[in-house]
Amino acid sequence: MRQRKPLVVANWKMNGNSELVQQMSEALSVLKQPLPDILICPPVIFLADFPKHPNYKLGAQNLSEQLVGAFTGEISADMLCASGASSVIVGHSERRALYGEQDSVISQKVKVAIEAGLTPILCVGETLAQREEEKTLQVLARQLDAVYAAQPHLLAHSVVSYEPVWAIGTGRTATPEQAQQVHQFMRQHLAQYDAEAANELRIIYGGSVTAANCEALFAEADIDGALIGGASLKVADFSAICTMA
Ligand code: G3P
Repeated sequence: MRQRKPLVVANWKMNGNSELVQQMSEALSVLKQPLPDILICPPVIFLADFPKHPNYKLGAQNLSEQLVGAFTGEISADMLCASGASSVIVGHSERRALYGEQDSVISQKVKVAIEAGLTPILCVGETLAQREEEKTLQVLARQLDAVYAAQPHLLAHSVVSYEPVWAIGTGRTATPEQAQQVHQFMRQHLAQYDAEAANELRIIYGGSVTAANCEALFAEADIDGALIGGASLKVADFSAICTMA
């Protein structure tokens, strides 16, 4: 019996269209229980018109750390809630690398999301260079501490996703053993801030997850699901992953 309910998240990134919205909604709507928690994070433009169904929830891929005001191009937590989002990805490595998001802003985004009633999915992960330099655990501890050291109460309302940067979009998935080792370390590290919350925390894995490799990952004790990019754009593949979690 799994200790934590699995969570499977689709991160469409800047992909998709109204046809994929319809196809994905139809495919997920006919899946039979028991199912994991399923969260679809399309570009925000699709949120309001995404058909609603009890088999899945909707989320966003980012939010502003600001609440309201003159912040051109930004979208607030309240706006995401009004558009039907229940969760939001925060600190994805692409936001950190391509848009210069720093730990301090990511920490504020987690706080703002929770205070608006959204569940943040905090992404952490090391680069290939950091792994090769055996700095993985040091990097992850820094990224986690930036959010939870000063705000331990946020942990109980979070999801954390381990996304090794070297596995994202590369087809080079972390082995179940590699991912389990990191997930177990993160859970033990976070227990210093809130032991009960760390035990209940869902830690999901992201980085070239497919229908072919997901079962071995899900079999690991501290891997509570997946955050899926490329495979979440393929209706049959994503549906299959959801039935295996
Ligand atoms: O957020 C999930 C994403 O970064 C993983 O992408 O294409 O390797 O599944 P992908």
